[in-house]
Amino acid sequence: MSKVLVLHGPNLNLLGTRQPEIYGHETLEDVNNGLYEKAAINGWDIECRQSNHEGELIDAIQAARLDGTTAIIINPAAYTHTSVAILDALNAFDGRVIEVHLSNVHRREAFRHHSYVSLRADGVIAGLGTQGYHAALDAVIRAAEPD
Ligand code: DQA
Repeated sequence: MSKVLVLHGPNLNLLGTRQPEIYGHETLEDVNNGLYEKAAINGWDIECRQSNHEGELIDAIQAARLDGTTAIIINPAAYTHTSVAILDALNAFDGRVIEVHLSNVHRREAFRHHSYVSLRADGVIAGLGTQGYHAALDAVIRAAEPD
């Protein structure tokens, strides 16, 4: 069974209550439940994890190299703009990488316009709210289907 890892970075555990005018009202549990459902319908194994700690995200990416994970969907949150270490970890992962942002980072402060993770990502989705995760999972599933 193909496996996808969904990683949520710092402060995304507060989804639903954190600046809802920017990030929406859905909770992280709502998002993950929707993704678990979509993965199950399509016969995919899925693991969704959130961490406020850079090293834990890196450990999860490293573990994905060894457990048959086919693709990583990652919203690195603020680490997007700062973390060479997460970029390096993703560079050591062979599968597909899709970067997701709930907000349109390009319409926000200048420091959010640069992403280290985009240097590795096969695709980037920004500004679609929680639908962005679903679009990413659809893309991962489609890419694995035979032509
Ligand atoms: C975010 C955008 C980042 O700039 C911010 O630090 C986040 C969330 C997004 O999903 O829009 O925490 O990644």
